Parts: sequence; structure tokens; C-alpha cells
Amino acid sequence: MTIPHDNFVKIVEVGPRDGLQNEKTPLTLEQRKALIVDLMHTGLTSIEVGSCVSAKWVPQMANSDQLFADLPQDPNIGFSLLTPNLKGFESALAVGCQEVAVFTAASESFTRKNINCSIDESFEKFADVLAAAKANHVKVRGYVSCIVDCPYEGAIDPKQVAQVTQRLYDMGCYEVSLGETIGTATPDRVKKVWEACLAELNSKVLAGHFHNTYGMAIANIYQSLEQGIRVFDSSIAGLGGCPYAKGASGNVSTEDLYYLLSKMGFETGIHLDALMQASRNISQVLNRTNPSNYANAYWQTQCVS
Ligand code: HMG
Ligand code: MG
Repeated sequence: MTIPHDNFVKIVEVGPRDGLQNEKTPLTLEQRKALIVDLMHTGLTSIEVGSCVSAKWVPQMANSDQLFADLPQDPNIGFSLLTPNLKGFESALAVGCQEVAVFTAASESFTRKNINCSIDESFEKFADVLAAAKANHVKVRGYVSCIVDCPYEGAIDPKQVAQVTQRLYDMGCYEVSLGETIGTATPDRVKKVWEACLAELNSKVLAGHFHNTYGMAIANIYQSLEQGIRVFDSSIAGLGGCPYAKGASGNVSTEDLYYLLSKMGFETGIHLDALMQASRNISQVLNRTNPSNYANAYWQTQCVS
């Protein structure tokens, strides 16, 4: 595995989870597996496989535990599953999952819509998950949604984001990913969020998760890099959205993130050819034009030369 150093940026690929959870027609388990196997050839070292949530709520993520169990093993790649409660954690543990993620928000209304409880109640559920994870040596990542705007409440106070982030970290999450869920943020507002969080926590335990609804994700990531953040979530072919954030589009594409980082001299461990192949394959499966500017420029250049 590549050893992280100051110039290394870790990319957490969330396409198979965040990307596919919003598809109108759920992909089959074979199609979901094919995407992950493609991603395994790209040099990515962290891949979110799916979610152990209610299939009534998110049918696209049904049987994520089965998918996990069916993946080829690779000691260089960390696979993870989202687990909002103990029931989800137990499903993940039963298939040998070594990393899970719990998720809440800096907005009460969003938390209620997303996981059917208040922020405080979400922490009660996470306490059970964290205790079981500790007993079984499973790593836990935390997510905070709505770090800038909430689709139901509007602007969110950065202090509230910092508080929820700190709570997740104090509870035992090794890293907390800050989700700009609806993609409305601009770099000035993102800066204020990082300033609030960095007053409490080290940048090494924080990650950025930017959706690209208004085309601001790369600008927001640049701002985050300036603030010292070195872990970012992204989605191959810019897939995704959240079922409980209407109109929110996909994450920043892994392809555009790769371009930004490599041109700025950061190492990512990504193998470009394999990344572009994975991106082309999933776009074909979904019969969709890839929103990544870099992917489109790449294929045009390939055709010309
Ligand atoms: P609930 O209805 O409050 O749960 O759902 P409950 O405890 O009352 O149980 C109701 C039923 O759900 C029971 O089944 C449980 O067994 C079952 P029944 O007796 O009716 O047959 N159940 C479960 N089944 C499977 N897996 C589980 C589970 N837990 C209970 N883990 C729950 C609570 C959290 C399950 C529900 O609200 C849910 O599944 N929500 C979906 C949340 C989700 O996946 N959201 C999208 C991911 S978050 C995101 O996208 C944001 C992020 O990307 C960052 C960003 O961009 O901001 C991370
Ligand atoms: Mg997301």
C-alpha cells in the first residue's frame, strides 16, 4: 500500500454507494460487483461498497452485505459499508467487514428524513455501533451531512457542524467526512466550516465530501486543500446524490479530482488508464453521459491522437 505522506491525498471512492444509491433502476448485484472490480484495478485504496440500511428505504443498496461477501479480496484495498445502527453493523460484521461508516447531519430535519431520528438519537444508535466495532476491531468512519446548507432548513451554522464532527470523533470515529450534501456551497463558506472544525480537531482526522450540483465541488476541494485537508470522497463518473436531498446531483467525479490533484503535484496512487476504463464502463452500463470534464477531454484527446 502507498505510504501516505504530506504530499499524498487519499481518495475514498464512494461511487458504488453514494453513486448508485440514487439510481432510478437499481443495478443488479453482478453490475455493482463489476463496477467495484473495475475500481480495484485503479489504485484506489478505499472503496465504499454499499449500505446496510433498510431495503424499504433505499432499495438500490439491498443486499450490500452479500455483495461485500462476493468481492475478491485484496489486502491493499479497504472496503467499507454504511451502518446507521447495530442491525446494519451486525450484517456487515457477519460478512467480515473491517470498516463501517455511521452517518448523521448538522441539521435536525435532514437527520430525521435520512435516518428517521434526531441528531441525539443518532448518537445513541452509534454508541452501540462503536462499542460493537471496538470489541470486533472494526474501524469506524463518521459522516456529517449538510455542512453548509440543508435542503429543509437552509444555512447551517459552522459551529453546529464542528460540534457534531467533534462528537463523532470523540466517540471513536477515526476520521470524519464532512458532507456538502446538496452542492450549493461556495469556497468562502466552506472555508468557514473548516475554520470552525480545525479550531477543535486536527486536519488529519477530517475528510471532504463534496457534491457537484452547482459545479462548485472542485473549487470547494481547492479551498479544502488550502486548509490542509488531505482526504476527499469522490464518485467515479460523478455518479450519485442522496435520496433524501431532492435535486442534489452526484459527488465530484473521481476523474476531475484526479486531474486537480495530479496537476497540483499531489500523489494519489491512481492508475489513469484503469480509472478511465472504469469510468467508461459504468457510464455505458447506465447509458449516461459522463459529467466529468476531464473524462470527456481525455476521451476526445485519445480519439484525435
Ligand atoms: P427505521 O424505520 O426508523 O428503523 O429506519 P426501525 O429501527 O424502526 O426498524 C424498522 C424496520 O427497518 C424493521 O424491519 C427493522 O428490522 C428494519 P420490519 O420489522 O419493519 O420488517 N431495519 C433495518 N433493515 C436493514 N438494515 C438496517 C435496519 N435497521 C432497521 N440497518 C433506518 C431507520 C436508518 C434503517 C432507515 O431510516 C434507513 O434505512 N435509512 C436510509 C438511510 C440512507 O441510506 N441514506 C443515504 C445514505 S446517507 C448519504 O447519502 C449522505 C452522505 O453521502 C454524506 C453527504 O453527502 O452528506 C453519507
Ligand atoms: Mg453524499
